[in-house]
Amino acid sequence: RRIVVIGGGENAEHEVSLATATAVARALRSSGFDVDELTIDRDGTWRRGADALGSRAADSLAAALSAIERADVVFPAVHGPAGEDGTLAALCALAHTPMAGSGLRAGALGMDKWATKLVAEAVGLRTAPGRLVAAAEIADIEFARDVVVKPASAGSSFGVALARDAIQLRAALRAAARFDDRILIEDVVAGREIDVAVLREADGRRWAAPPLEIHAGGLFDTRSKYDGSARFSVPADIDSADQAALTGAALRMFDAIGCAGVARVDFFLTDHGPVLNEVNTMPGMAAASQVPRMFAAAGLPYEQLVERLVDAATM
Ligand code: DAL
Ligand code: MG
Repeated sequence: RRIVVIGGGENAEHEVSLATATAVARALRSSGFDVDELTIDRDGTWRRGADALGSRAADSLAAALSAIERADVVFPAVHGPAGEDGTLAALCALAHTPMAGSGLRAGALGMDKWATKLVAEAVGLRTAPGRLVAAAEIADIEFARDVVVKPASAGSSFGVALARDAIQLRAALRAAARFDDRILIEDVVAGREIDVAVLREADGRRWAAPPLEIHAGGLFDTRSKYDGSARFSVPADIDSADQAALTGAALRMFDAIGCAGVARVDFFLTDHGPVLNEVNTMPGMAAASQVPRMFAAAGLPYEQLVERLVDAATM
């Protein structure tokens, strides 16, 4: 089968998306698939290897669309806005080509941390108390207590900061506003940081891999995500009641926003149970990322995980 793997993208997670796409393409080739790797440059030009597709933006997209139409399955390995948020899922849907992973609705809901929070609370899951502000309003926000400030739509913690005083709050709001015009201000949650990966198989069965704990020594921010300083333990050292609560919550959230393929559902485990942080519908999938580690702990090697995502591709 011919698989188009898409990497890169027009957002801050460009490099992370290249790493995921490279690892996915390598795994698919080693499983015998015919892989066509396409990259979206930061300016939106599509390329195949070093060659730009088309000379103008519109030609480039048209050439990419024709590669997508000819593919049996598309694997859109683009994290963040204009990728994971449902944009590429929509392109595949319009081209009538099945794709690995979540469709437009789940991508859009999962990308938007405010929408995710509303859905989570509607299905009985706890999230950090928080509010949404427009970037146009940030000058009016006053410091009251320690908070975490996040762009509503971004990934890899770009634009996320902890604010412990008025000066930090001002800087954090301005930083978040560079990524989105909607900003989330949340109370700080004291808890262990635990991720749960959920896979939806071709037959529709969904299951969760053993949870992973992140030991970042502070905020698991963009730097600690990619400088190698964070440690993971998988399976996380948690009791069976906590494990059941976390995996139950992850599956409920997976279904509530209508995910397909794989999603990584991130929690804080507090003394009062799990608090949902966010859902990643195209989580980092380089071989050493959290998702592959969790499935490896469940006995599913990386190549097989990627192959199962292709087998479970939907329109
Ligand atoms: N947004 C990054 C890639 C993740 O969720 O792993
Ligand atoms: Mg994320």
